[in-house]
Amino acid sequence: LENGLARTPPMGFNNWNSTQCRPDFDEKMIKGIADIFVARGLRDAGYRYVNIDDCWALPSRNAQGELQPDPKRFPGGIKALADYVHSKGLKFGIYTSAGTKTCNTAGFPGGLGHERQDANLFASWGVDYLKYDNCNNQGVDARKRYKAMRDALAKTGREIVYSICEWGRTDPKVWTWGEPVGNLWRTTGDISDNWSSMIGKAKANRVLAQYAGPGHWNDPDMLEVGNGGMTATEYRTHFSLWAMMAAPLLIGSDLRKAGAETFGILENADIIALDQDPLGRQATVVSAEGGLVVYNKVLADGSRAVALSNENTSTATIGTTAAALGIGGAPSYELKDLWSKATRTTTGKISASVPGHGTVVYRVTR
Ligand code: DGJ
Repeated sequence: LENGLARTPPMGFNNWNSTQCRPDFDEKMIKGIADIFVARGLRDAGYRYVNIDDCWALPSRNAQGELQPDPKRFPGGIKALADYVHSKGLKFGIYTSAGTKTCNTAGFPGGLGHERQDANLFASWGVDYLKYDNCNNQGVDARKRYKAMRDALAKTGREIVYSICEWGRTDPKVWTWGEPVGNLWRTTGDISDNWSSMIGKAKANRVLAQYAGPGHWNDPDMLEVGNGGMTATEYRTHFSLWAMMAAPLLIGSDLRKAGAETFGILENADIIALDQDPLGRQATVVSAEGGLVVYNKVLADGSRAVALSNENTSTATIGTTAAALGIGGAPSYELKDLWSKATRTTTGKISASVPGHGTVVYRVTR
């Protein structure tokens, strides 16, 4: 969507993957995350959006038809929470559904038929990002539903990143019509905190590179890094692949409980730089034989990022060449390993021994 926003993939936080609708999803948590973004350097690393997901509202609208925050979770209201987040130099995001109700079985009201009223309310609260889900949509064409909210958001005059949470389930596929409608769109169902779910999302998303670019991104769902269901090696693969695929980097773990290993992954500036590269190209797959996958991301300075990703459980050598990455012909290349930070030169062969479920990422410069 050409609304001037999300020129690089959005970075931030969303509570869903850590709390879903449990009571620990509340004002205290969200303020705590904003505090940590500042105190632990995440804001400076590029993470800007602090977003809340489903279950923030009461099950019914008020007499004026407006959505109401749940006073148990958000006693200060949403406006005050957004003000707090803004006071930290961050941006605030909210959630609702392009249906009559959100996805949670408690039946929180959705935005279908209320687009103008809800967009105006969000703008009056200072919302900077809207995730618009797809449940209880009454069979209304998705393009119609998502365009109605796009137009309502535009009419508010406020800059609001627009996240389409259709999951690529219905035809025509959302990535074929999403570019003029939203800033990002989900390409998969919900991620969960295990290897097979995460790598399944990567496989589904990595074939859609042609649809991504500045202002309009494929979204293979939010990060699970730090939630405990994968090894550190697997979380590094998760983070590496999301960056290679120019995916939104929305942290999904409760950072108030995170350790050094989690921060170390989420704050790897070299990997973040791939995601945020201004050219905005999603990596393409060079080869994917027998679970040994080579990804190639063209970068703005003409260099390449290459990810050598081992989807099997035992160590394997994975290799490619500078020519296969489209930068052949130079006498030599510098390879920087973006996790170990080691550098070396090569005349064109690029390979590494990669542990099971691991990924080696090089920046390759002529
Ligand atoms: C489905 C979405 O895909 C999830 O990311 C989350 O927002 C839930 N709905 C909330 O109910």
